[in-house]
Amino acid sequence: MRVVFLGAPGVGKGTQADRIAAQFQVVKISTGDLLREGVRNKTPLGLEAKSYMDQGKLVPDAVVIGLVRDKLSGPSCAKGFVLDGFPRTVPQAEELGAVLASKKLVLDRVVNFQVPREDVIKRLSGRRSCPKCQATFHVDFAPPKKIGICDRCGESLVQRSDDERDAIETRLKVYEEQTAPLVRFYEMRQLLSHLDGAGAVDAVFQKLSQVLAPYRVT
Ligand code: AP5
Repeated sequence: MRVVFLGAPGVGKGTQADRIAAQFQVVKISTGDLLREGVRNKTPLGLEAKSYMDQGKLVPDAVVIGLVRDKLSGPSCAKGFVLDGFPRTVPQAEELGAVLASKKLVLDRVVNFQVPREDVIKRLSGRRSCPKCQATFHVDFAPPKKIGICDRCGESLVQRSDDERDAIETRLKVYEEQTAPLVRFYEMRQLLSHLDGAGAVDAVFQKLSQVLAPYRVT
């Protein structure tokens, strides 16, 4: 199963990508997670990406494309993947198509998550993330068992620097300008499914599982 999760910041792509990856036994590739790992480890790539990310702007295509190309070439992707947060521009989408074509593979589906703007802002401003294992929580909608502590690995949770109000506004604007055109891009290729992402996490997961069921590899 080879799928892309598309949608504005905070619509729940990462939350659902974790679940789908576990359920369908495929790899989750999140460019946001990979870039944050680079920032934490102070790699040259992370240092280059940090200032863009803090401001809520997109990291240059060449940097992100290189990251994903490496991941897709790894043996862990043999059973498929969920791409979370990539592609985000038309050049990224074209490059993804070219990489897959070079391996004689195709994309099965692109799921476009739709959530009202006010819900997205609530989700992002209440999000808490684990800097160690990347698990995601929400102070109201998905609280950890112990306040401020990651259920999965016990690390202290943090608020992402780009979940501050100004950066959220920039990210939503950048999404409209640079990523929303991908809806049409994939619609024209008859790959797009719209998904109402406004319900509870479990309800969204049920709907998403149905959309992706035909692509499950047993
Ligand atoms: P990235 O990490 O990809 O951030 P994003 O796309 O802005 O997406 P988010 O992680 O904010 O939201 P999400 O949709 O995954 O929602 P989540 O599941 O966490 O990118 C960060 C930055 O990296 C970018 O700004 C850019 O600088 C750079 N970058 C990354 N990829 C790039 C690329 N391809 N090109 C260039 N630059 C790139 O959920 C959000 C919150 O809501 C959580 O607290 C969660 O618990 C809660 N929640 C989830 N689902 C529900 C629900 N159904 N009901 C209630 N609460 C829910």
